[in-house]
Amino acid sequence: MNRHPSRRDLLKSAAVASAGIVFGANATGADAAEAAADGATVDRFTGRTTNAASMAGVPFEPRETVRIAIVGTGLRGRSVLGEWMGVPNVRITALCDTVPEKVELAVQQMRKAGHDDEPARFTNGPEAYRDLVRRDDIDLVYTATPWEFHVPVVLAAMESGKHAATEVPAAYTLDDRWKLVDTSERTRRHCLMMENCNYGYNELLVLQMVKSGVFGELLHAGAAYNHDLRSILFENKDEGLWRRRHHTLRNSNLYPTHGLGPVAFMLGINRATVLAHQLDPGDQRDLRGLPGAHLYRR
Ligand SMILES: NC(=O)c1ccc[n+]([C@@H]2O[C@H](COP(=O)([O-])OP(=O)(O)OC[C@H]3O[C@@H](n4cnc5c(N)ncnc54)[C@H](O)[C@@H]3O)[C@@H](O)[C@H]2O)c1
Repeated sequence: MNRHPSRRDLLKSAAVASAGIVFGANATGADAAEAAADGATVDRFTGRTTNAASMAGVPFEPRETVRIAIVGTGLRGRSVLGEWMGVPNVRITALCDTVPEKVELAVQQMRKAGHDDEPARFTNGPEAYRDLVRRDDIDLVYTATPWEFHVPVVLAAMESGKHAATEVPAAYTLDDRWKLVDTSERTRRHCLMMENCNYGYNELLVLQMVKSGVFGELLHAGAAYNHDLRSILFENKDEGLWRRRHHTLRNSNLYPTHGLGPVAFMLGINRATVLAHQLDPGDQRDLRGLPGAHLYRR
């Protein structure tokens, strides 16, 4: 039996969960039949066709030592570096930042933590990560760059045979999100979104309470990420140098997964059902009994 569900399997289970409800599927029966003849599957919600199996549930290959490269050694990159310094059998083999001093701060941090490895440095401009991903001493490339670089860095990493991990938000256009999925499935490399809030003390505590049945059956949840960013957005250093621009260009929730991630865990929503339950504002269908549906009504 195939232990690794394909996206189609996930979507099927989403469809079962939403029995009786017809979503605006683009894939026609004819498309699906044609794709099936090709050995491909059609995503019934988007109409996209894929030949590749999902990477969900695919184990990482075991390794004695995990070799990590960090692209973006600013505040967050160095904060996560500190966490990796506490994990046995992790080596940091390469560091990259457009500002060489930030890379040196990361190296100093490694020295303080007792790591005497000499990571390769890539500081030659905003595309230096392209040289980094070509190295053969890296298992995972993690990016903590400004948002606009997340997708290019992780795509380059996967195309070069490395697993990839990105800070949130992983991407901010639907096209880019599908590029991440497609590239991961084609290259058979993992593409992780580092949503740390899923693993916070309070979030895991409530998750455990949900699993233990303290709240009974969950039908509705509210999620938010409350962070007063005013001082950060008006700084002339660190995130202030790039994040303000995003907030002036788009008026939306630019950071949804800090709130949504933990609640999705609690409601048992996986990647497929999130899509399945996106509804138009005027939609009056009775959603009771569909876990998580309320979260995605736009
Ligand atoms: N998960 C969390 O809780 C959390 C917390 C803070 C920040 N973040 C995310 O981490 C990312 C980085 O945020 P930050 O606070 O560290 O910002 P920062 O500005 O301190 O760090 C970004 C670093 O990327 C470097 N950089 C810019 N362009 C680059 C490029 N093309 N190649 C290599 N390096 C480049 C900058 O010089 C800087 O050192 C953002 O995506 C942010 O949203 C996540």
